[in-house]
Amino acid sequence: MKKVFTALMTMCLMLFSVCCVYAAEIPYEETSSEITSETPLESQSESPSETLPEICRHSFGDWSAVDWPTYMKEGLEKRVCSLCGETQTRKIDKLTHLSYRLCPDGDADMDGKVTAADARYVLRLCLGFDDGLDSLQKKKADFDKKDGVTAADARYVLRVCVGLDPYAPSLRTGYTLAGYTKKGYALAKKDGITYVVSPYGYTLIANKTYGVPSSYAPGGLTSECYSAFNTLVKAAAKEGKNIYLSSGYRSYSTQASLYNRYCARDGRAAADTYSARPGHSEHQTGLAIDVNSITRSFANTKEGIWLASNAHKYGFIIRYPKNQESITGYSYEPWHIRYVGKDLAAAVYNSGLCLEEFFGITSVYS
Ligand code: DAL
Ligand code: ZN
Repeated sequence: MKKVFTALMTMCLMLFSVCCVYAAEIPYEETSSEITSETPLESQSESPSETLPEICRHSFGDWSAVDWPTYMKEGLEKRVCSLCGETQTRKIDKLTHLSYRLCPDGDADMDGKVTAADARYVLRLCLGFDDGLDSLQKKKADFDKKDGVTAADARYVLRVCVGLDPYAPSLRTGYTLAGYTKKGYALAKKDGITYVVSPYGYTLIANKTYGVPSSYAPGGLTSECYSAFNTLVKAAAKEGKNIYLSSGYRSYSTQASLYNRYCARDGRAAADTYSARPGHSEHQTGLAIDVNSITRSFANTKEGIWLASNAHKYGFIIRYPKNQESITGYSYEPWHIRYVGKDLAAAVYNSGLCLEEFFGITSVYS
């Protein structure tokens, strides 16, 4: 019995020690494999006979098009590791593709021109329409049914068809999006006043299409406009030109009296060609000034000539230029300058366009 007990105890002890050795081996193997993958290649030379896998800590560059036709067709992108040359590809969804690729100027296919192809390109990618599927769309891409094919059409397709508006600017607090101009700039509204949002900032628009509320009364020229005008006057004086303010800020009621007087004298149709209806004059905004003599002949005086070629340097534009009556809605006023800031004034001056054409807006009473 004693012998049997001793034999049983011996077997138990043997079994226990086997279990202990086995249990100890599991963590050993795991640790061992971790070390292999973490250890730099140089310090692994202790066992030269072993062939260890080469390890690259990839350094991938940016995702870019595999090739342009494939990218357009399938939305395939690639990226390459600069260390080992490994290439990865991925397929991106259409909306991601669009938000990557669409440019604020509507040149969706990035060929340097905004054409019908851009709106079709948007359609193809968003909705899977192919050029060949709809002959009407192929012929014409004036999707918003306005002004031919412009940047606005590609945006329109995106907004209306897929609810995506990558162009919508994040407007300043208090402004709401009121639409887009023919040239694709956003129109923002605040307190009943319309602004064109462009790289030049928020430009207040007061013309026949866009009025200002009768209650809008800054009470005088804005401080920016006033100070820019003083700088202009001083600069002109240095060159021997005498520029002075004839009419600056005009309240809604002052404009109403003026306009009514002109209507009584010349009739409404004629008055509309040279005087703004109350609520539509730039003078009510504190951003416009009539200088010197308010006559056509001012254009030929040394001051008129100087003003025409220098006003933009101080942030002003000649607001109602010659030969643009049908666009501005007013006859030529060489004396009426509008403060828009130096950058926009220079851009408008260099373009040779009036403000309406520059932004792609109208000036007509509704
Ligand atoms: N003469 C300009 C158009 C005005 O009345 O505001
Ligand atoms: Zn004026």
